[in-house]
Amino acid sequence: MNKNTLQHLAIIMDGNGRWAKERGEKRVKGHEKGAEVVREITNYCANHPTIETLTLYAFSTENWKRPKLEVEFLMQLLDKWLKNELESYQKNGVRFQAIGELSRFSSKLQKRIVDTQEATKDNSKLTQILALNYGSRSEIVGAVNRALKDNQEITEQSIGAYLQTPYSDIDLLIRTSGELRISNFLLWQLSYSELYFTPTLWPDFTPSELDEIIAHFEARERRFGGV
Ligand code: FPP
Repeated sequence: MNKNTLQHLAIIMDGNGRWAKERGEKRVKGHEKGAEVVREITNYCANHPTIETLTLYAFSTENWKRPKLEVEFLMQLLDKWLKNELESYQKNGVRFQAIGELSRFSSKLQKRIVDTQEATKDNSKLTQILALNYGSRSEIVGAVNRALKDNQEITEQSIGAYLQTPYSDIDLLIRTSGELRISNFLLWQLSYSELYFTPTLWPDFTPSELDEIIAHFEARERRFGGV
């Protein structure tokens, strides 16, 4: 049997808060450690022979409901992180892209996002997509409205092309922290993807666990509805 090829990996990074609580720390400590793990996993993917795209759920449209201080911390962390990450993106050949309703972010953060996209646009080892203020139903509604505005017939192809993520279908979705939910993430793009749920909290997730999960994925039989 041929091995499956992993080109597009998506991850719901969950469990930062619990990781911090287990250590008697504030939740934000978990986000800080989580951001370091984002870098390690991104670099692993950039050096992987078949992965082309890594899509990460970094902030959902529901995350605004968190305490104001935690939201503010996450915004600052993201801005600081993107600033520091530029060197690593260039060194590792990573193209950065963001999806989601970015207009709700501060103009400083929006500028940081746009500038980082621009500065890394020619990198070709990996595309890292951060989903920021992202919700999948809203993405699909937006795609349908844009297609209608352009007088396009509504088909699977036209909706797919008008999504913010027309890159490719997702081959494998991983969610950390033991929760068995999709949480409004990439509903359209996940139609045929393999799903993997690990109890590991995101700050404890390592490239070697990812390696094992990928080996498991490569050995799975994918039928896409056939027999
Ligand atoms: C879930 O943990 C994680 C998030 C809300 C977003 C992910 C954020 C990071 C990995 C850190 C920042 C990312 C970047 C790219 C700088 P949770 O708080 O929901 O954990 P819990 O379920 O244990 O409370």
